[in-house]
Order: sequence, then structure tokens, then C-alpha cells
Amino acid sequence: MTTATAIIDISTLVTNDPSLGEGPLGLLQNAAVVIDGDRIVWVGESSKTPATDNQVDAGGRALLPGFVDSHSHLVFAGDRTAEFNARMSGRPYSAGGIRTTVAATRAASDQDLEENVARYVREARRQGTTTLEIKSGYGLTSQDEARSLEVASAFTDEVTYLGAHVVPPEFADDPAAYVDLVTGPMLDLCAPHARWIDVFCEQGAFDGDQARTILTAGAQRGLTPRVHANQLTQGPGVQLAVELGAASADHCTHLSDADVDALAQGDTVATLLPGAEFSTRSRYPDARRLLDAGVTVALSPDCNPGSSFTSSMSFCVALAVREMGMTPDEAVWAATAGGARALRRTDVGRVAPGARADLTLLDAPSPVHLAYRPGVPLAAAVWHGGTLV
Ligand code: NIG
Ligand code: FE
Repeated sequence: MTTATAIIDISTLVTNDPSLGEGPLGLLQNAAVVIDGDRIVWVGESSKTPATDNQVDAGGRALLPGFVDSHSHLVFAGDRTAEFNARMSGRPYSAGGIRTTVAATRAASDQDLEENVARYVREARRQGTTTLEIKSGYGLTSQDEARSLEVASAFTDEVTYLGAHVVPPEFADDPAAYVDLVTGPMLDLCAPHARWIDVFCEQGAFDGDQARTILTAGAQRGLTPRVHANQLTQGPGVQLAVELGAASADHCTHLSDADVDALAQGDTVATLLPGAEFSTRSRYPDARRLLDAGVTVALSPDCNPGSSFTSSMSFCVALAVREMGMTPDEAVWAATAGGARALRRTDVGRVAPGARADLTLLDAPSPVHLAYRPGVPLAAAVWHGGTLV
């Protein structure tokens, strides 16, 4: 293993592989990990580390899989400081604010958009996020959606077509014509650049019938559905997501018992986005209820300029523990393995031979510190595909 690097003296290693360690997090104490190229090649006791050319001493700190962020809206221009200020003085959040960002995004150059995405991807990486899904959704013309997806593709393979974010102003009098565009010419232009299709199924955005039409059209073009569901109201989004075999139903804030049952019986991951509830001053989703029903839960910051302008997964872990009834271990799993499930990935979100060398070293002895020390930048070193960020 001459070109390999060994990371030794890890106090607590989160493998997320119960066959390698203790409990659902597959915890190993006094561990080491060997990486070679972009892969993990060995995991075990630090005292048994094979000889390698390079060695990094973790110094008794914790190592975990890089965070897997399965939900972000990074292709945008401008910000919504004024809307945030108004909200903090009591104005409610509504889907309508999205149109402010649409106007700024349409007016931006390709270079401006690329620089913005690069900035937020860098920001997320520095904080330990190594896999990042990125959506379109602030262009809402065929050209602007396609260029948003092309910009996103330069940063990730996890690209999501969200032409159905809201109905843009020029279609306000004829939303059916906009659905025709999203499922017709816009889809033609966008499908080659995306892996996923998403719809904001919500009052003020798209209803259940429109969402079904859009997701089905996308699926016919090879895009797998994911749904913005039940964020602001108890709508049809979650049950539609499960029915269509969506990879993920995201937000899941307002759920009926039937919604929880559907998630428990289906394969759709419930991705919870507590940064949105923090910034919109709404009640948090009840993660405990979902976990107790046997639902697979993921966490994501939902980074976007309107409802949740944070790229910090550790902030979400802290919120999930303090506000949503998750244990620290459950929240760490949701931020890593849960995100991987939501993206149907088996090569990330775990530390095991063969997995990608995506790793986050914490400046702390245990991953519990992510929740225990909120707001503290604990990512001491981040490997992305074997390269130190
Ligand atoms: O996930 N809910 C819809 N989309 C984003 C918010 C977008 C915006 O306000 O700009 C979300 O919260
Ligand atoms: Fe979102």
C-alpha cells in the first residue's frame, strides 16, 4: 500500500456499517482508516494499521463519513435579506418569495451563477459535506432551467430538474400552460442534464394532480422523482411520493397518520430540513414519530436564499436533536447514511473498504459533539474522493 494514506489514532470512527462496529453507527474505538486514490481500502484497529507511505495522526479525534446533503438549491443569484427581515418582524413565509430569486437568477450571467455555486459548494465542503445534490428551480424558462442544470453539473452528478418550483409570473393566468411547458419542451431540454425530477407540491405552487403529471412525465424520460412535500400544509405530496416510488419526500413537516403509514410501508426516505423551520419560524417536523414508525430519515440544510440560507449540516444535526426528538446517533446517521439512502447511493455515507474516501475529521472526541457543541466549526479536515479539501 505504498501510495496509500493511513489515518490513525481515531478515538471514535463512525462506519455506519453494523458489521464493522457497534450499533447502527457501526462505531469503532481506537480505529484507523486507510485510503488509496479515491477509495477506502482498509478499516480496523489503529494498532493493526498496515504500513503505508503517508500517515495522518487523528490525535484521538472522531472521524465520520462526509455528510451527504441530498437537497440544495444553489443555482441562484441575489439574496432575500429584506424578506428575512420582514419575517423576523412577523410576516409569514410563502412560496411567492421564490419569484424574487427567479428574477435575479434570470438576469445573472452564467459566470455569476457558476461563481455563486462554487462559493456555496466550497462553504459546504469546508464544513464536512462531501456529497451534494443541487436543484434548478430559479430559472423557470426552458433556457434558464437548462443552464441552471448545466451549471450544477459542473459540481455534482446529483442534479435535479425543478422546473416545477412555482408558476412563474408570465404564466400566472394559465398555470396549465406552464405544466405543459415543464412536461414538454422544458423537459426535452433539461432531461439530458439531470438525474432527478422534483416538484414543490404545495398551496401556492403545484397541486397533487399537477405534481403527478410532472413527476410521471419526468419518470418516462428516465428521471427519478423526489418531492417537496407537506412543508407548509398537510397536502398530497407525501402520499404521491410514496405511490410514485420517489427516492425522497422532503420537508415532511405537516403529516397525517396516513402519511406516516405510507412512508413506513414504502421505500421513500423522509428528508427533514430543519433549517427551513428555523428560518421560517415554523414548527419542526416530528422526527421521533417517523423513526418510531420505522421510516428512514435523512437530514439536509436545504440551502437556498429564501427559506433556509445555511449550508451547515452540523447545524441541522443540532436542531434535529434539540427540536425534533432525534438522538445524537440518529441525527449523525441521518446526515450521512440517511442522505446516501435519499440519493440511492451505496458508495457514500459509510466508511468501509470499497466506499469513496469521503471523510470528515472532527475537532472533537465523539460525533455527539456535533449536537453538543452547536455553532462550533468542528470539521478539522475533510477528504473528498481521497483529496484533502
Ligand atoms: O425547499 N419549498 C420550496 N423550495 C425551497 C424554498 C425556496 C425559496 O424560498 O426560495 C425550500 O424551502
Ligand atoms: Fe427545498
